Amino acid sequence: MSRSFFLSSAILALRASAQLTASVCTDEKTGITFHGLQHSSGYKLGYALPETLTNDLIAQLVAPITDDGGWAGFPLGQSMVGSVLVTAWPHDGEVISSFRKATGYTNPPVVTGNFSMITIPEGTWVNGTAFFYTFLCKDCVGDTVADGIVLSDTTNVFSWAYSDTPLTDPSTASAVLNMHNGGYGSFGFTVSDAQSADFATWAAMATGSAGGSANSTGNSTTPIGGGGSSNTTTPTNTTAIISDLAYDYIVCGAGPAGIIAAERIAESGASVLLLERGGPSLAFTGNNDTLSWNSSVSMYDVPGLDY
Ligand SMILES: *[C@@H]1O[C@H](CO)[C@@H](O)[C@H](O)[C@H]1NC(C)=O
Ligand SMILES: *[C@@H]1O[C@H](CO)[C@@H](O)[C@H](O)[C@H]1NC(C)=O
Ligand SMILES: *[C@@H]1O[C@H](CO)[C@@H](O)[C@H](O)[C@H]1NC(C)=O
Ligand SMILES: *[C@@H]1O[C@H](CO)[C@@H](O)[C@H](O)[C@H]1NC(C)=O
Ligand SMILES: *[C@@H]1O[C@H](CO)[C@@H](O)[C@H](O)[C@H]1NC(C)=O
Ligand SMILES: *[C@@H]1O[C@H](CO)[C@@H](O)[C@H](O)[C@H]1NC(C)=O
Ligand SMILES: *[C@@H]1O[C@H](CO)[C@@H](O)[C@H](O)[C@H]1NC(C)=O
Ligand SMILES: *[C@@H]1O[C@H](CO)[C@@H](O)[C@H](O)[C@H]1NC(C)=O
Repeated sequence: MSRSFFLSSAILALRASAQLTASVCTDEKTGITFHGLQHSSGYKLGYALPETLTNDLIAQLVAPITDDGGWAGFPLGQSMVGSVLVTAWPHDGEVISSFRKATGYTNPPVVTGNFSMITIPEGTWVNGTAFFYTFLCKDCVGDTVADGIVLSDTTNVFSWAYSDTPLTDPSTASAVLNMHNGGYGSFGFTVSDAQSADFATWAAMATGSAGGSANSTGNSTTPIGGGGSSNTTTPTNTTAIISDLAYDYIVCGAGPAGIIAAERIAESGASVLLLERGGPSLAFTGNNDTLSWNSSVSMYDVPGLDY
């Protein structure tokens, strides 16, 4: 059953007008003005950009998670698979963060590249209801999704996700992540609304550790996933060889009907083998279906858009 870990590919249907649009908000503690998503769940994601775009951005990630409660993140781009992902969570009063890259809809492993995160200590803390992570994301803007976020001066659709389920081992930055069951989705973003002449002043506040511990005296020696090596992760196919197993049901074809039939049968307690020859139906695998967007259409109504 392939449930997308992050929102997988909403760009085609959302191109005309995204379901949620970004708003502008000034952070009280840092004075930085962010343009981004403020979701009703309590998740917030803001971006700040310089007037003349460079490869850097400042981001603020807020999620209603307290110590060891789950994780939050976002792709530097629109889809989970193939984009560099920023993930963070609070542990022991600190914020732990890492860059990840997903090769499928499973736990995304840590990835290294030229990109790095440098904490802005004034905007990074954990309290009894949420965590706040504000950082300079250096070399996070790229020309292709493999290098970082690709900014269009017209319409951008960005995504977000968080999990409120505790991680098995939240103490290390390479922790195995679980499904983002706290919330996820996408939002429309306009570059000019995030640009500010104050960017350089704000970026100078990035004096904390690399990789996201909460203060500069914290665990700062190893930049997590951002040390400047040029390693990238190449997506690979995983082959599972299954033989001599009996199933109660075999469903052929993991289209919208097959997936749901298999899921319902599995929920009833039966064992199910779901067979699918192709890969997921996503924009990058050739699905270019579009549907005009209006208030009564959700992303779940568009085949191939998400599940
Ligand atoms: C955590 O910080 C946020 C932002 O300052 C605030 O709104 C919230 O009330 C704080 N929670 C607690 C328990 O202090
Ligand atoms: C910074 O982090 C270190 C290591 O976790 C901790 O001992 C120290 O108290 C923290 N300092 C502040 C000001 O939060
Ligand atoms: C920081 O380093 C200490 C000592 O190496 C370790 O015990 C602790 O788990 C680390 N904390 C984080 C947040 O990585
Ligand atoms: C790149 O990754 C490979 C395999 O993990 C590793 O052997 C190699 O040392 C890495 N190179 C750099 C520059 O980090
Ligand atoms: C990292 O930066 C160097 C120098 O600008 C460049 O040659 C290299 O291609 C970059 N690596 C990646 C993975 O973008
Ligand atoms: C994965 O399998 C598909 C279908 O056989 C193929 O088109 C694709 O190139 C493979 N990808 C990799 C990274 O091997
Ligand atoms: C959608 O994909 C089909 C098959 O690849 C192609 O013929 C068609 O031109 C595409 N349509 C758009 C709007 O990109
Ligand atoms: C919304 O769009 C769908 C699909 O294009 C259409 O079936 C529906 O009638 C539209 N609803 C409204 C209120 O325009």
